[in-house]
Amino acid sequence: MKISPQDGKALGVVVEGFDANTATAQDIAELKKAVYTSKIAVLKNQHLDPEEFLGLGKKMGEVAEYYEPVYHHPKVKEVFVSSNVKEDDGKQVGVPKTGKFWHSDYQFMPRPFDLTLIYPQVVPSRNRGTFFINMADAYQSLSEDLKLAVKGTTATHSVLRYFKIRPDDVYRPISEIIDEVNGKTPPVVSPTAVEHPHTGETVLYISEGFTMSVQDADGTSRPDLLQELLEATGQLDRTYEHENIHLQTFEKGDMLVWDNRSLIHRALHTATPEPAVSYRVTVYDD
Ligand code: MLT
Ligand code: FE2
Repeated sequence: MKISPQDGKALGVVVEGFDANTATAQDIAELKKAVYTSKIAVLKNQHLDPEEFLGLGKKMGEVAEYYEPVYHHPKVKEVFVSSNVKEDDGKQVGVPKTGKFWHSDYQFMPRPFDLTLIYPQVVPSRNRGTFFINMADAYQSLSEDLKLAVKGTTATHSVLRYFKIRPDDVYRPISEIIDEVNGKTPPVVSPTAVEHPHTGETVLYISEGFTMSVQDADGTSRPDLLQELLEATGQLDRTYEHENIHLQTFEKGDMLVWDNRSLIHRALHTATPEPAVSYRVTVYDD
C-alpha cells in the first residue's frame, strides 16, 4: 500500500495497492490516519461487489444503515444508492439528485457519521466530481472577530429542507410530511465549533443545507452570524471558485474515503445529467 499526496491539491491523498479484502488492521489504521490528517483518500483500482464494499466498511468501524429505506441497495441494505439511472423495467433503485447542497452526512442526526466511503459505479464522462470544504481550515481562516463571535454559540440542524419526497408520498399533504420529518428527525443542536477528536482541530460545524439557525448562549437567534459564516467559508459562492472549495474528481475504480467530521460536501449535478450511480457506506469509527 502506497499513500501519496494528491498532486497540486491542498487536500487528499492517493492510495495505491490497497486490497480491501486482504487489508490488515495496520493498513486500515494507516488509511484512517491519512484520512484524518489529509481529509480525503482516493483508493485506486477497487473492484468490489456490494458485499465486499460493506466488508471494507466493517473493517473501518461500525457501519451505519441509512434511516430511510428508499436509499438502500436491494441486496445489501447498508449500501446507500445514489442513482439517476432507471433499471430496464423502469424501476428506480436508490435516490436521484442526492446531496446537491452543502452538508455533511447525517449532520441532522444526533450522531453524524465519522467516515464516508463513496464508490462510484457509473461515472459520467463530464462534470464528474464532488465539491468539498475543509471546515477545520475554514475555521482557521475566519477573522479573529468571527472566531470570537462563534464562541459559546450553538447551531441547530435539520434535514427538513432537503428531505426527499418518496414515491409513496405522492398526493400526501405536505403538512403531514413535514410533521413526519420533524417527528422522526427532530432538529439537533450542537456547538457551532467542535473539536476533532483525532486531530484536535477546531471544526466549524455548519452547512448551508442542514443548519437552520445559530443562536447565542441565551438562545437569541443570530441569522446575521449564520449568514456571515456561510459567506466566509465559501458556501454561498455559486461560481465554486472560492479558495476554500476543493473539487474532487474521480474515475471508474476509484473509491473516496473522507473525514465527515471535518468536511462538508456538495454533489456536482448539472441540468442535463449523464447517467451516474454511486454506492456509499458510512461508518462510526470508534
Ligand atoms: C447525502 O447524504 O448525500 C444526502 O443527505 C442525501 C440526499 O441528498 O438525499
Ligand atoms: Fe452527502
